[in-house]
Amino acid sequence: MSALFSELKIKDITFRNRIGVSPMCQYSSTDGVANDWHLVQLGSRAVGGAGLIIAEATAITPEGRITPQCAGLWNDQQIEPLQRINQFIKQHGAVAGIQIGHAGRKASAAVPWDGGAHLDNDNGGWDMIAPTDQAFDQDGTRLMKAPRRMTLDDIKTIQNAFVDSAKRALTAGYQLLEIHGAHGYLLHSFFTPLVNDRTDEYGGDSQGRAKMMLETVEAVRAVWPENLPLAVRLSAADWIDNGLTVDDNIQMAAWLKERGVDFIDCSGGGATPAARASVGDRTAQQVGLAEQIRKQTGVKTMAVGVITDAHQAENIIASGQADIALMARQSIRDPYWPIHAAEELGVATKAFMPIQNGTFVGT
Ligand SMILES: Cc1cc2nc3c(=O)[nH]c(=O)nc-3n(C[C@H](O)[C@H](O)[C@H](O)COP(=O)(O)O)c2cc1C
Repeated sequence: MSALFSELKIKDITFRNRIGVSPMCQYSSTDGVANDWHLVQLGSRAVGGAGLIIAEATAITPEGRITPQCAGLWNDQQIEPLQRINQFIKQHGAVAGIQIGHAGRKASAAVPWDGGAHLDNDNGGWDMIAPTDQAFDQDGTRLMKAPRRMTLDDIKTIQNAFVDSAKRALTAGYQLLEIHGAHGYLLHSFFTPLVNDRTDEYGGDSQGRAKMMLETVEAVRAVWPENLPLAVRLSAADWIDNGLTVDDNIQMAAWLKERGVDFIDCSGGGATPAARASVGDRTAQQVGLAEQIRKQTGVKTMAVGVITDAHQAENIIASGQADIALMARQSIRDPYWPIHAAEELGVATKAFMPIQNGTFVGT
């Protein structure tokens, strides 16, 4: 009996297995609107057997996009193409999830294949907001544009925008909502002392710095149906002196659990240029943080970071490090990874392959 291929039921949602596709920016939207690329990219991973597909960081306001080509849910026109995609994902047995977020001072950037540096306003960029007025990269060459320090009115506006996007996500047919609270983007940048230099009620000690994240999650939970799971992605450690430690995030996870969060998705890094990157081989250490957060708080966790091998993923679930194993780069390499993993673990595949395929090669 495989743990990786066991079902998981949270609220009214049943995941057919514990394999999830981690959110991945596609930089392929026009005005935040999804298209056939997203249908094929996400749909093929549902056909490939994943239990959960989390769509990319989707901006709650136009200014919250990382790049001009990022996805959005700030208007109603953005809903319909997502409904089509989600219908397909669900038809093929996967749970449709989405990550909503705001990029804060890391917004207004060029797409990675154009170098990823900040764009000037006369070159497709825009003004950014953040808890601070300090640029992400003060001495470097990439993300050097300074944001405007958010007022209390800005904070309310952004919290309302999270709520509105959550409602649109529901209309779009998503079954799991993830709030992006990691990687140096807006909510994480409020929580980490590496960025938050505020002297008002949204700064200072851990409780002050957590206030933006907690209020936002509370407001979203109030409109996201009780019977559907809510996740928050955290940078479970900043991995740098004077940054957030896993203990800070154990506390945050406990606060979030009290507010009705079902999953903590345990990522890491991204707060400053000197902090560890959120993508790369060192993310493997994040799996241990998912275990600590799960054991200390009792909250369900998703583990992510260099999960590539069937036995490795099986062990993460079987040993109780996490409830779902998320994959990003391995899922890019192999959309059919769950089928290959099942074959390796001796699990029958026919039941979760589309009939057009399983009839001929399913076991
Ligand atoms: C192309 C690409 C896009 C990504 N976009 C997002 C994103 O939208 N939201 C997010 O939280 N993480 C994003 N990530 C990070 C991944 O979700 C994941 O946490 C990280 O790549 C580590 O997992 P891996 O070792 O399986 O790749 C992205 C990673 C890649 C490779």
